[in-house]
Amino acid sequence: MDNATSRRDCLKLLAAGAGWATTVAALSAQEPSTAKANSGTTVKDPNLQEPPDHERRMQWWREAKFGMFIHFGLYSILGRGEWVMAIEDIPVEEYQQLAKQFNPRPHAAREWARLARDAGMKYMVMTTKHHDGFCLFNSNFTDYCAPKQAAGRDLVAEYVDAVRGEGLRVGMYFSLMDWHSEDWRKCKTDADARRKFVDRVHGELRQLMSNYGKIAELWYDGAFPLDAEGWRSKEMNDMVFQLQPDIVINNRSWMAGDFSTPEQSIEASKRDWESCMTLNDHWGYGAADNNWKPPKTLVSNLAHCSMNGGNYLLNIGPKGDGSVPEQTVDILHAVGGWVSRNGDAIHGVTSAKISQADGVFFSRKDNTIYFYVQNWQGNSFTIGGIHEKPKSAKYLASGKAVKCELNGTRLVFSDLPEKSPDDVVTVITAEFETAPVQDSMGTRIVVPFIQLIHDEVAKGWG
Ligand code: GLC
Repeated sequence: MDNATSRRDCLKLLAAGAGWATTVAALSAQEPSTAKANSGTTVKDPNLQEPPDHERRMQWWREAKFGMFIHFGLYSILGRGEWVMAIEDIPVEEYQQLAKQFNPRPHAAREWARLARDAGMKYMVMTTKHHDGFCLFNSNFTDYCAPKQAAGRDLVAEYVDAVRGEGLRVGMYFSLMDWHSEDWRKCKTDADARRKFVDRVHGELRQLMSNYGKIAELWYDGAFPLDAEGWRSKEMNDMVFQLQPDIVINNRSWMAGDFSTPEQSIEASKRDWESCMTLNDHWGYGAADNNWKPPKTLVSNLAHCSMNGGNYLLNIGPKGDGSVPEQTVDILHAVGGWVSRNGDAIHGVTSAKISQADGVFFSRKDNTIYFYVQNWQGNSFTIGGIHEKPKSAKYLASGKAVKCELNGTRLVFSDLPEKSPDDVVTVITAEFETAPVQDSMGTRIVVPFIQLIHDEVAKGWG
C-alpha cells in the first residue's frame, strides 16, 4: 500500500471510528429486550435481547465487580497508543516490521496477573488481537501472529496460564476490524472478500474458544464496517456459547450481549453494564502520558460502579517488553491496599438515599450507611438533612468506634483525628434503625424560604 492510499484509508477509518462510537452509544442506550418500531409499537428484536441463560451465566460477574483490561500488542513498542498505525498513517508494510521486534519477556503476564490480584480484581481481559490485526495467539489463518514472528510463542497461552495461576478468571478482547487484512479493507463492498474475512473471524474465535480452557468473558470490539448480518453475529455468538456455555459476552458485535460497555464513563443502566476506563489517557502504552488517575479517584469510580450495579474494568498498557510502567504498579498497589482494608464497601453495596455532602459519598447495605470520606475535614464533619438517629458508627477498616450524633437534622461525626486514618479514602459505617433518606435541597432551602415569605406576609411585611 503506498502512502497516499494509506492516508486515505486511515482518514476513512477515523471518520468511521467516530461514527462507530456514536452507534455503540446508541445501541448501548437501547433497552435490551424491546425496540420501538417506526409505527410506535413496541416490537421484539432478537438482536437486542440478552442471550439465553443470562441470569445464571452472569452470577460470578455480578459478584466480581472489578477487573483488569490489558491493551498489549505491536503498538506497545511505539508507546503512542493502540491507534498509532491509523493516527500516524503508518503503512502496513512499515508497521508490520514491528512483529520482527515484538518479543516480550517470557511470562510477562504473570506480573500483570499478580498485580490484578493485589489490586483486588477478580478477572482480566486481554487484547488477543486489536485493530492492527496482529494476533497474540497462534492463528490458523495468518502468519501475522506472535508464535510465527519474533516472539515465537503463544502469548495468549502464557496469559491464560498466568491469570489462572493467580486464581482469576480469563477474559478475551477480540477486534473484528483488522487494518492489516486486505479482505477486511474490501469486505464492505466485495462479497468474496467479506465471506473470506468473516469466515476467518469465526475461525479465529473458534480457536480462542476451543484451545484455552474455560473462558469467562468475551469482549468484542470494532465491529466496523459490517452490521450484525454482515458479521453473522448471531451465528458467531451461538458458536461461542456452544463451546463456552458459561461465558458472558459484551454488546459490541451489534448484538445486545450480556452487558453494555460504557467507555471512560460511569453510566448506570437497567441492564448489566461494565464501565471500562484507562488509568491515564491511553489504552495501549502511552510513553509520554503522565495523566494518571489518583487512587482516590479510582476507588471512588469502583465504589460508584459497584453501588449502581455495574462492574469496573480498569485498563493497563504494558510496554513492548511486557513490563508494567512503574506508576501503574504504584497506583494499583494503593488501590489494592484500600480494597483489602475496605472490601466490604465494594461488595454487596447499593446506592444510598443520601447524596449531598462536601467530599463525602455514600452507599448502603440494609440499614447500614457507608460514608466514603474523600476529603478529610479534620476533627469533625457533618451531613445535613438527616432525620434518623444512628445506633452506632465505626471505621470499616479497624472496627474502632466513631462518635456520631444527630443534632436536629444534622448528622455530626466528631472527636475524629486531624489526619485521615486512610491515606486514600477513609470509610466509616453507621447503623440506623431504618436507612436514612436525606431531605432534598428543595425541601431544605426552597420550602423554608417560602415559609419565611409566608410568615413575613402574614406579619404584613413588618
Ligand atoms: C475504544 C478504542 C479502542 C479500545 C477500546 C476499549 O473503542 O478505540 O482502541 O480498545 O476503546 O474500550
